[in-house]
Amino acid sequence: MKKAVCPGSFDPITNGHMDIIKRAAELFDEVTVLVVTNPDKKCVFSPEERCALIAKAVEGIKKVKVDTFSGLLADYVRANDICAIVKGIRSSSDFEYEFQMALANRSLAPCAETVFITADPQNMYVSSSLIRQIAAFGGDVSDFVPKVIVEEIEKRLK
Ligand code: PNS
Repeated sequence: MKKAVCPGSFDPITNGHMDIIKRAAELFDEVTVLVVTNPDKKCVFSPEERCALIAKAVEGIKKVKVDTFSGLLADYVRANDICAIVKGIRSSSDFEYEFQMALANRSLAPCAETVFITADPQNMYVSSSLIRQIAAFGGDVSDFVPKVIVEEIEKRLK
């Protein structure tokens, strides 16, 4: 069974993430959306909140599950028999950042390949930080996050 992981902060999950997760599910037998700690970011939503939002958003999508992990992604990958780390790329700056992580993960967990999926042009400007800012000022985020979690995000961030 070919198992992949889509790791990230998901603070919160966006339509851009959703597109990458769905396309990864077309390629692999099982895809775990993994909420991982990014030591360079201070998240607004707790890991539990982020997992709950993702679980709602991916409900009904076959082969997709949700998990959380604090530690090195490479350790999770090795412990869970994962063959691919899937990342979405929106721009050349994303690539610079992801390329370095891919090389480090390749060294730490050679059992897994990093697979880059290019963002749908429609989602190229969508980011979690954009959504947090719009919602914090009372804006409408329904174009940027899955419909089932719009209300929860707006209520939580306003
Ligand atoms: O959504 P993000 O914040 O860009 O995702 C980055 C994330 C969480 C995937 C990355 O920071 C990560 O893998 N963190 C776990 C710790 C780790 O393995 N760091 C070394 C990466 S080479």
